[in-house]
Amino acid sequence: MDWLYSDIVKKHFTEPQNVLLEDESSWPCDGRGQTGNITCGDQMLMLLRIKDDVITDCRWKTYGCASAIASTSALSEIIKGMNIREAYAIKPEDIVNELGGLPEYKIHCSVLGDKALRAALDDYLEKTGRKGMLKVEAKEICHCMGITDKDIEEAFKNGARSWEKLQEATKIGTGCGGCQSAAMDYLHSLEHIYG
Ligand code: FES
Repeated sequence: MDWLYSDIVKKHFTEPQNVLLEDESSWPCDGRGQTGNITCGDQMLMLLRIKDDVITDCRWKTYGCASAIASTSALSEIIKGMNIREAYAIKPEDIVNELGGLPEYKIHCSVLGDKALRAALDDYLEKTGRKGMLKVEAKEICHCMGITDKDIEEAFKNGARSWEKLQEATKIGTGCGGCQSAAMDYLHSLEHIYG
């Protein structure tokens, strides 16, 4: 059987870096983020130590698949030494590139790590009196109708779970229709995050 994963993915999966092995309470941190949906098996915890707005160390723990483990291990190495603004701007594509690629149907697994990272950074900002200071730029998914990932996320939170429901909520895909598979991939990734 051929491995579908790059050597970098395999290395991060078999030797994951910065995993939280001890009890969470024995690793004091400045920012804590948790995301995921344990009912479908994916959950992620990210702890950050931050000094003068620079990430000095991190730990993470997940109940996730090989791709989620490898993605978060790679992410945990990238972010050390980054300032909070740089870390907040990391996108799933950056993690996938760092890993030398992921199988197409596994790309949504890399989203867990960067969501948990942002949740931990949000927690740090709130604790330091700067709640909401950093935001992620919306990414346009349907160019004909100007619908972004944020619009899809909002529709998902309001109950849209199918293409038809998404269209009802946002009018996505009512031009050329070329955005359907990207939109549904994103909707599927949200199911993993929110359940
Ligand atoms: S890109 Fe969405 S309808 Fe054309």
